[in-house]
Amino acid sequence: MSLSGKIAVVTGGSRGIGRAISQRLAALGALVIVNYVSNSSAADETVQSIRNAGGKGEAVQFNVAVSEEIEAAFKKILEAHGQVDILVNNAGITRDTLLMKMKDEQWDEVLNTNLKGVFLCTKAVSRAMMKQRWGRIINITSVVGFAGNAGQANYAAAKAGIVGFTKSVARELASRGITVNGVAPGYIVTDMTRDLSDEVTNKIMAEIPMGVLGEAEDIAGAVSYLASDDARYVTGQFIHVNGGMYM
Ligand SMILES: NC(=O)c1ccc[n+]([C@@H]2O[C@H](COP(=O)([O-])OP(=O)(O)OC[C@H]3O[C@@H](n4cnc5c(N)ncnc54)[C@H](OP(=O)(O)O)[C@@H]3O)[C@@H](O)[C@H]2O)c1
Repeated sequence: MSLSGKIAVVTGGSRGIGRAISQRLAALGALVIVNYVSNSSAADETVQSIRNAGGKGEAVQFNVAVSEEIEAAFKKILEAHGQVDILVNNAGITRDTLLMKMKDEQWDEVLNTNLKGVFLCTKAVSRAMMKQRWGRIINITSVVGFAGNAGQANYAAAKAGIVGFTKSVARELASRGITVNGVAPGYIVTDMTRDLSDEVTNKIMAEIPMGVLGEAEDIAGAVSYLASDDARYVTGQFIHVNGGMYM
């Protein structure tokens, strides 16, 4: 499996799952644009780790929820590299609380970053991918988008929205050589899940047949398959990487 000569953009590529995806795509030969919103030192660390391993990467700041920032960033990326072959829509946030306590802002922030961001970035690359008649768009959803979760109505709505979006865009772009798929992680050890109480973690573990939390690299493996030529006939699909938590 080689991604040599490919240009990949990974939103939220600076930390956690996005970092592992960036490192994996770079290890397979792609030049990886590592996006972040505010933590430039984490993004620099990721790029440095890619370069130390002999790969190519660069950090680019933009907020996936702001359409002007995305337009400007993708214009620059396309001017500099001439193409974007792989887009991984990974950036995401949580603002967890029960429905009765959920504020409009908590709903809007999560929907804007986790769902509108996927729409905006996908739109920004689709014209260039259509012209080159090759593209891979991979959207990171969640087990919560399929199964729901108390305290995460905003997050689950956004992640389930990604499912419908992915299947629709897969149908629109299929004849142009562009595949659009998703990966649905279960519980993965990252900053997003690190601070869960022992009680919550134990409850989650009890629902995972494999009995362990996942690693960011587990998600990177599924993404790299979908980005490769091996997956050329796969579109509108989701790979569930969750230790059996949801079947
Ligand atoms: N961890 C899990 O168990 C789990 C399970 C299912 C799904 N997921 C999904 O997997 C993805 C990655 O999660 P993670 O656990 O790796 O999260 P994380 O460790 O919290 O990292 C989040 C990443 O997203 C970036 N980001 C956040 N808001 C952004 C914005 N508005 N614009 C651009 N970048 C933004 C962050 O950039 P900065 O560094 O600049 O803040 C960071 O790189 C998310 O979509 C998440 O919903 C995670």
